Amino acid sequence: MAFSIRPFRDSDADTVFRLRAEAFVTQFFEELGPERCAAGVNAYMPSDYLRMATEMKFFIAEDTGIPVGFYTIKRIDESTAELLFIYVSTKYLRQGIGSRMIRHSEEWIRSNWPGVGTYLVDTGIPKYNGDFYRRMGFTDAGASACPFPNLPIPALRLSKRL
Ligand SMILES: CC(C)(COP(=O)(O)OP(=O)(O)OC[C@H]1O[C@@H](n2cnc3c(N)ncnc32)[C@H](O)[C@@H]1OP(=O)(O)O)[C@@H](O)C(=O)NCCC(=O)NCCS
Repeated sequence: MAFSIRPFRDSDADTVFRLRAEAFVTQFFEELGPERCAAGVNAYMPSDYLRMATEMKFFIAEDTGIPVGFYTIKRIDESTAELLFIYVSTKYLRQGIGSRMIRHSEEWIRSNWPGVGTYLVDTGIPKYNGDFYRRMGFTDAGASACPFPNLPIPALRLSKRL
């Protein structure tokens, strides 16, 4: 695998939509059920990613030029950053791409947002991916919510010191 991570380009918006939708349909359905899955997929359209990419940092993971995942980080305040999205293509799960994106995000934050000492993530599917975040050094930090329009989903917050 010729793996690399690069910044988002506007032409990636459809790919980002597809990668996220694919996870809701194939990975989250059991834990979320149909209504919450539909709300989750519909929460962000490709045009929303284009707008969000002007306010947050989106990165694309590629295997030999083919997008296989993406992640998004958002600065909440001077000392806090949030991992808003992290998605790996279904075919590429459990091949080290998620952990490489987490490491890349932490290096990027240290270099570009040096005031940030707390890194947060909220997950609405903690049974499915809570242990992934714990393996990456996050610890449970209480209840939260994924603010999808019309149907907020209860979430687990995890955090780590950077
Ligand atoms: C969660 C996700 C990003 C992990 O990415 P990945 O590339 O599959 O993870 P990696 O291969 O880098 O795994 C890193 C470690 O976490 C473990 N791990 C990965 N997914 C896991 C899971 N779902 N549950 C428990 N452990 C998991 C791996 O076994 C590995 O452990 P090791 O270091 O002891 O070998 C990926 O499963 C994914 O995109 N899922 C769908 C979308 C998603 O859940 N996004 C987050 C929404 S909040």
